[in-house]
Amino acid sequence: MLVAPSVLSADFGNLDRDVKAICEAGCDLVHVDVMDGHFVPNLTIGPVVVSAIAKAASKPLDIHLMVENNTFFVDLFAPFKPRYISFHIEEEKNPHRLVQYIRSLGIRPAIVLNPHTPAEAVEYLLPSVDMVLVMSVNPGFGGQSFIPEVVEKIKRLKVLRDRINPECLIQIDGGVNDVNIEMLDGAGVDICVAGSYVFKHAEGLKKAIDSLKV
Ligand code: DX5
Ligand code: ZN
Repeated sequence: MLVAPSVLSADFGNLDRDVKAICEAGCDLVHVDVMDGHFVPNLTIGPVVVSAIAKAASKPLDIHLMVENNTFFVDLFAPFKPRYISFHIEEEKNPHRLVQYIRSLGIRPAIVLNPHTPAEAVEYLLPSVDMVLVMSVNPGFGGQSFIPEVVEKIKRLKVLRDRINPECLIQIDGGVNDVNIEMLDGAGVDICVAGSYVFKHAEGLKKAIDSLKV
């Protein structure tokens, strides 16, 4: 299991310190949640702050767009050379075109599915993407409870993934912790995002990250 802590739960007054700390604690990716106040009822960070995160991070960035106008935001964040940019299929009229565009910028494209969106929605995009992110909370906020119905979806997605593009990673985001991680691993998750669990862990970042590497 790869681990991508979400900096949404970091201390933004000490962002440089916290980003360095999760990288030193052994995370695999730094998950960056971009929200525009339109696609989701929350507003987070833009290129000024992502630039600071990119400078502090010694691990690759994983940028999760929760926005309208995806292409505008892809262009804003591409200069920071993230490993992945993921966008929501619910908000994109031409997802295949955007996948090709992200790849043309030298970035690995990923598609996000909201909790209600079926696994089959991504079937014809699977040959073209490097990762599918399954939301296990409604996007917009850290610290929400895991929605158990998505486990069945991950199992269905894994069947599709194994048949169509075995290289494509399955990522989960929302309410992940040391209690549900083994079950998620069994269902087919390759990489987990965790925000509040990692940053609020009583025994520190390294213990938290290690506990998710099942
Ligand atoms: C929610 C974000 C998540 C969030 C996860 O919209 O996409 O990445 O930060 O936070 P936790 O792990 O606290 O649910
Ligand atoms: Zn996220």
